Amino acid sequence: MTLPPKPVARPDKVSLWRYLRLFRQDILAAQPARLYHAWMAEFRTPFFRSFLVNDPALLREVLKDNPDAYPKSDRIGAGLRPLLGNSVFLTNGAQWRAQRRIIDPAFEGGRLRDTFPGIVAAGQAGCDRFAAMADDTPRAIDAAASHIAADVIFRTLFSLPIEDETAAEVYHRFQAYQQAQPILNLAAFLPRLRWMPAFFRPGVRGQARAIRRLIADLTQARLDQIAAGIAPDDLATKIMTTADPETGKTFTKGEMVDQVAIFFLAGHETSASALAWALYLLATHPDWQDKVAAEAATFEARFSDLSRLATTRDVFREALRLYPPVPMMVRQASQPTIFRSRRVPAGAQIVLSPWHLHRHDRIWDAPDAFDPARWQDDATKTAQRDGYLPFSAGPRMCSGAGFAMIEGVVLLAQLVGRFRFAPVAGQVPVPAAHLTVRARDGIMLRITPRD
Ligand code: HEM
Repeated sequence: MTLPPKPVARPDKVSLWRYLRLFRQDILAAQPARLYHAWMAEFRTPFFRSFLVNDPALLREVLKDNPDAYPKSDRIGAGLRPLLGNSVFLTNGAQWRAQRRIIDPAFEGGRLRDTFPGIVAAGQAGCDRFAAMADDTPRAIDAAASHIAADVIFRTLFSLPIEDETAAEVYHRFQAYQQAQPILNLAAFLPRLRWMPAFFRPGVRGQARAIRRLIADLTQARLDQIAAGIAPDDLATKIMTTADPETGKTFTKGEMVDQVAIFFLAGHETSASALAWALYLLATHPDWQDKVAAEAATFEARFSDLSRLATTRDVFREALRLYPPVPMMVRQASQPTIFRSRRVPAGAQIVLSPWHLHRHDRIWDAPDAFDPARWQDDATKTAQRDGYLPFSAGPRMCSGAGFAMIEGVVLLAQLVGRFRFAPVAGQVPVPAAHLTVRARDGIMLRITPRD
């Protein structure tokens, strides 16, 4: 059986400048193949020192046992701050903790049930759009997946469909922003040197300002509705009316704009990437597609139906393993320490790579194969515990993880229940890390109605 696509790794030894050039093209292809086997790798250059960590014990130390000693690297912020301000994705320490105290209750188990109708409605609208594309000609599936995921976020956050004028403009401007700002990857790994102020390509700051203005309008409108007692009971209202239990403070309008920007960005790009790859994997594994379709036939869009979608959930988990939407995360050592007998200086970049971990050949059996059945196999329980971080782990874990797992399973069931997906001969997508793991030239599939 052919394996799902994987980028060709670079040769083991390349010059620094070649490395930087590769990095700029694509962070995944810039790495050597040994990272799928090593527990740790050190990168030493004249400008920076970083450690890529695959060792489960070290991952636990950085993410769970001692996270305050490894704050988020401020280099990520260099690329994202014009758009995200001081959003929860970028902050550290007391400010981050206070933000999570307000945000987390909106995503608690009980509340997730309230977001379910918005997810189903977006999936239904997506199916209607797919019906118009289901004529067996090659279609760009990733663009269609982005459209659905953006719709999910607007419906659940602001009770607005993506066709709403402001929502649609935010969505289109975000797409332009991402195309203009792919260099973000490199910025994350390099110190912010004075001669390198232009991480921003022309137009990026202007796009960020325009997006924030639109989000500010939505936030103000919601503040007015809350004051008038007519606000819908959605994620935005929940977050804007929740007070920090320690200080009694709610988010100011400016703080809320920061959070909405990250919910939109973190919440739709990631889910869209996962959905598009899951559909590609099902298109290339028709036996699994039939199993998902059979399960989907039992789905009547009730929250309680979710427990019956076990195979669909395993397919989605396996898609997140092979194509983790967030391929790498960066932390910074706040003090000197020792990792696997190596000295790690203060300020070193610690790179955690779901991409490599999820395909690590000492953790997973058949790491590059698509095998959703592994999720029911007791023999892989250790791998699932030690080698699977699609949503990160510990206190900084993705706030939307529970939400995203419901969303992914529902959308897959709705789409595969109604349509058959098939690959396009000769068009194998090449994974590449942009803001999330996408295909270099898109993912093309043929869609036909399932009868
Ligand atoms: C398949 C979908 C998703 C994946 C794979 C994903 C993955 C991740 C990962 C790996 C992180 C940690 C990043 C880091 O530490 O550098 C993260 C953080 C975050 N995600 Fe998600 N995410 C997804 C969907 C969502 C959704 C739907 C939302 C909100 C509606 C969301 C909101 C956030 C937020 C707010 C953070 C920052 C948390 C913090 O730093 O405290 N994500 N996500």
